[in-house]
Amino acid sequence: MKRIAIFSSGSGSNFQALIDATQKGSLQATVELLVCDQPDAFVIQRAQAAGIPTFVFRAKDYNSKMEFETEIIAQLEKRGIEFIVLAGYMRLIGPTLLQPFSKRIVNIHPSLLPAFPGKDAIGQALEYGVRITGVTVHYVDEGMDTGPIIAQAPVEVYPNETKQSLQEKIHVVEHQLYAETLNHLFITEF
Ligand code: GAR
Repeated sequence: MKRIAIFSSGSGSNFQALIDATQKGSLQATVELLVCDQPDAFVIQRAQAAGIPTFVFRAKDYNSKMEFETEIIAQLEKRGIEFIVLAGYMRLIGPTLLQPFSKRIVNIHPSLLPAFPGKDAIGQALEYGVRITGVTVHYVDEGMDTGPIIAQAPVEVYPNETKQSLQEKIHVVEHQLYAETLNHLFITEF
């Protein structure tokens, strides 16, 4: 069983889907920690309901990214974390965390990268008028939604699509693709 930490900044629907997959046995991992940079985020309530320890911080309480990432590393080491899963963590990972966890941090993004990186990928896709968008799971490097692609899945954009309807479809795909991709990684690469 891979010991993982999930990083999230928001509602945490992907966090929930991964917890559910570990409980069903379709993801060979144990979620040992939630790392969250937004003290009001709903994902914290999800972690508490699931009995998962949390490390919640505010970036502005630190002098630098190096400082809060050093504290995150101490939390990861304390719990023997082997792998980091970003699920809506809206912050770039710095060298302090990247170095010790090289090739052991993955992210999910709501577009077919390299199209529409960064914030509001779903709004960007609608604005551009693409007919197909999707979801990407990739290794994390120092860039914004860059890093080698591990898996992708398409999502069709209907002519009358709203941001909310597209987001709902993307979430359904994300929840399935992330658990499947991680499970595949854990049983083949480790
Ligand atoms: C997800 O759609 C995820 O792909 C996206 O944030 C959302 C979080 O939703 N991540 C990014 O845009 C990363 N650049 P959730 O909190 O319900 O899991």
